[in-house]
Amino acid sequence: MSNTENFSRHISEGYQPKGDYIYLGAAMYKGEVHADAAVKIPLKTMNRHGLIAGATGTGKSKTLQILAENLSKKGVPVLLMDVKGDLSGIAKPSDEEDFIYARHEKLKFPFEASGSPVEILSLSEEEGVRLRATVSEFGPVLLSRILDLSDTQSGILSIIFKYCDDNHLPLLDLKDLKKILQFATGEGKEEFENSYGRISVASTGAILRKIVGLEQQGADKFFGEKSFEVEDLTRKNTEGYGFINILRLTDIQDRPKLFSTFMLSLLAEIYNTFPEQGDSDKPKLVLFIDEAHLIFEQASRALQDQIESIVKLIRSKGVGIYFVTQNPTDVPADVLGQLGLKIQHALRAFTAKDRKAIKLAAENYPISDFYDTKTELTSLGIGEALVTALDEKGRPTPLAATMLRAPMSRMDILTKEELKELTANSALIAKYNQEIDRESAYEILTGKIDRADADKAREKAKEERKKFEKASTGRGRKSSNGTEKAIVKVLTSATFIRGVMGVLNKLMK
Ligand SMILES: Nc1ncnc2c1ncn2[C@@H]1O[C@H](COP(=O)(O)OP(=O)(O)O)[C@@H](O)[C@H]1O
Ligand SMILES: [Mg+2]
Repeated sequence: MSNTENFSRHISEGYQPKGDYIYLGAAMYKGEVHADAAVKIPLKTMNRHGLIAGATGTGKSKTLQILAENLSKKGVPVLLMDVKGDLSGIAKPSDEEDFIYARHEKLKFPFEASGSPVEILSLSEEEGVRLRATVSEFGPVLLSRILDLSDTQSGILSIIFKYCDDNHLPLLDLKDLKKILQFATGEGKEEFENSYGRISVASTGAILRKIVGLEQQGADKFFGEKSFEVEDLTRKNTEGYGFINILRLTDIQDRPKLFSTFMLSLLAEIYNTFPEQGDSDKPKLVLFIDEAHLIFEQASRALQDQIESIVKLIRSKGVGIYFVTQNPTDVPADVLGQLGLKIQHALRAFTAKDRKAIKLAAENYPISDFYDTKTELTSLGIGEALVTALDEKGRPTPLAATMLRAPMSRMDILTKEELKELTANSALIAKYNQEIDRESAYEILTGKIDRADADKAREKAKEERKKFEKASTGRGRKSSNGTEKAIVKVLTSATFIRGVMGVLNKLMK
């Protein structure tokens, strides 16, 4: 048997799923495509996470597109984090150019042009379904992380959340949070002190300043209602195809902290909401994060730990996460170790630093009798990649330099008109895109303070009337100065202040 025949057998035996799978392409050896050495990824293992890596322009986003559209066709819904805004074309059929047919000729695999059902999501005011979360859903822990609070400050934030919980004050948006922080050291100072201990103005001031900083990153658009229900990410169309939800993040890519925190809160929400899935023949949802280095770059150690543990846990909910980035080393080692499918496109070796990165990247792939990984890494063409997956028993499949199939959908983006048309037909937009500002902490506290002020004014008027009556019916007029003094005395008396606080307390209950 020649070496070449050995090769085809080696690959096809390694990629032979019994259940349903996604055809990715065919393996190449010594520059030849071996159509009989098909690279097939078992659907069953697609909740085991993955990596798509490679230099710019080598085909990472197209590989993401191929995986996403094929998952959709198999009834698996997908969420794409579209950082560059170049993935919308997945909604429309391919332009069927000649080079696509030439590629499929080599693969001996029929090419069919077809678009996928797409829902466009947005974190800001861009076109699409508004993704929002309330401050209380976010919780004090995550919020402390995103705000970079000190231990003392996070402690205070936890107390604030507890207070709002105890007093049924909904924390929906940042306006609510700011109001209650002001209240804690202002009108509500005494009450807070009695129940929770002293809170310093310096601390609430520092937290407030950080919230303002976050608002300036556009986070005020993100916090509020109607809060997104993650089950809506798992919709299918009438043909049973999974929806591809594209979250357009072009406007937050220069705000990595917001991005990573949003990611984490979404994952936490999915983890809390989805039931355990056990052993299943396909994932419930697959997430792709393009330009994933953004979520790790500026994430604090604590945030990274949290990402790592959620990646580990979420698998059991039938959710797969795929990181798309330039070099595998962009992903923390602990996360990298959990990724089952690895698709490595070419890397460039311009500098000494590049060569070192290539050496490190090569170490992430199984040793092969047929390839020298380091050489392959620099010689792969566009739309070609080194692939290793997990077979149905969870064992790594042999390394395969693969010529990938072409996306069935359009490789270019949608036009503005097409995008408009797409969002106009969205069922979710009707559900999520109205501004709701229902009564929450801000309104309730403002109301209470106003009422307390009104009480105070009434009290003052009553007192004044009394003094006036006394003066006019008594033994002659008191000097106005005397009246004023009396009022000042009443207003500053401890009983009066407690009276106002009592009203507040009652209102809180
Ligand atoms: N599987 C593929 N089939 C056909 N052409 C491809 C494929 N992958 C990449 N290409 C070509 O390479 C270009 C760059 O790919 P892209 O995925 O945008 O690169 P990256 O995301 O790595 O920067 C595409 O516009 C397309 O012309
Ligand atoms: Mg790309």
